[in-house]
Amino acid sequence: MFQNQQITEDIFYVGVNDRQKHKFENMIPLPVGVSYNAYLIMDQKTALIDTVDISMGDIFIDKIQSQLQGRTLDYLIINHMEPDHSGSIRLIRKYYPDLVIVGNSKTISMLDGFYGVENNTKEIKDGEILSLGTHKLQFHFTPMVHWPETMMTFDQKSKVLFSGDAFGSFGTLDGTVMDTNMNIDRYWDEMIRYYANIVGKYGAAVQKALQKLTPLDFDIICSTHGPVWKEYISEVVDMYDQLSRYEGNEGVVVVYGSMYGFTELMAETVAQGLSQGGIKDIIIHNVSKTDSSYILRDIFKYRGLVVGSPTYSNELYPEVESLLRKIEIRGVKNRIFGYFGSFTWAGAAVKRLSTFVETMKWETAEISVEEKQGLKEINYQACLELGRQVAKMVKKPIERKEHCG
Ligand SMILES: Cc1cc2nc3c(=O)[nH]c(=O)nc-3n(C[C@H](O)[C@H](O)[C@H](O)COP(=O)(O)O)c2cc1C
Ligand SMILES: [Fe+2]
Ligand SMILES: [Fe+2]
Repeated sequence: MFQNQQITEDIFYVGVNDRQKHKFENMIPLPVGVSYNAYLIMDQKTALIDTVDISMGDIFIDKIQSQLQGRTLDYLIINHMEPDHSGSIRLIRKYYPDLVIVGNSKTISMLDGFYGVENNTKEIKDGEILSLGTHKLQFHFTPMVHWPETMMTFDQKSKVLFSGDAFGSFGTLDGTVMDTNMNIDRYWDEMIRYYANIVGKYGAAVQKALQKLTPLDFDIICSTHGPVWKEYISEVVDMYDQLSRYEGNEGVVVVYGSMYGFTELMAETVAQGLSQGGIKDIIIHNVSKTDSSYILRDIFKYRGLVVGSPTYSNELYPEVESLLRKIEIRGVKNRIFGYFGSFTWAGAAVKRLSTFVETMKWETAEISVEEKQGLKEINYQACLELGRQVAKMVKKPIERKEHCG
């Protein structure tokens, strides 16, 4: 029944859209859904690249059967074992018991660990080639993008790179899967949000992978989430290069927590100072209102970050604390930082923010602002000055560091 979308003459899209899940990894909101992409290569041998989340297993099997038209499925290539892709392996094995599952040693071990699947597996080495007839699939290990077993599969015949989660994006695929057939504008921010939240910690591993992939000369990238890239390949590769170097654009994110508006007023004032300093991209986030996945997206996008917090039971405001922890976990590098806070009887927030930036080893504005109770003239001026200082630092040209390895 299904007319699967064609990527090349004999490569077909058999992935699915998930418009039901509210939060990816039970944490990251999915207002525009997500796709789990899988691909079928029809050659003398047939090969499936990755599977999908088990919640969509039924429709996935139907799509594969529609394409195979009674032929058997010879290989399943596993680029990544996270269950949003490996979840339907046991199901597909039931339909195709002779299926050979192909992966590296770490994949094979996880296959047993997660699903108890031990037999009919084929362990491949880095650089090894598997022939399907006319298609020769070459495997390139890309560890820690973003799990240890992650690899990419390059089809030498059609110059297609099956990249796993790399170059992936949130957002369903509506009616078509190729970037050439759609207005891709709505995906850019979702792609950065995906990167910042899922891959963000592994910048060095992404840089290594990019160096390894560059000589491959691919024409199409088939990732496991979001559009198939053909027309915009250079843009998505450049975006990954920039994000994995932790190179932000000229702009500043101001994040604050506030219960009654005192710290919020300071944030508004800092933003005014940023504008006086010539910054055009100023994004203010109320940490209690905007989901942290969006705040992290913008922190990856822009070079400047200013954080403000009230003191709360002798600590940072808990929502600010939680965000800082997420930034620490990702090891975000090379940011220009500023901070401010407020208190009523004994301030602790500003001190905690200074400890945070010491651990991050970021360049920091000389001035920080701490107000007792309502914002007064002297600290109003200091907030403006903090904004101007951060603006000046952000606008200073940066030297591009070579691959950080
Ligand atoms: C639950 C709660 C706990 C607080 N804990 C402290 C504290 O430990 N030390 C302090 O100096 N002020 C404390 N404060 C006062 C706030 O830090 C202070 O009023 C601040 O300016 C509020 O800023 P906001 O309006 O941006 O939330 C607390 C306030 C609340 C509501
Ligand atoms: Fe993943
Ligand atoms: Fe994934």
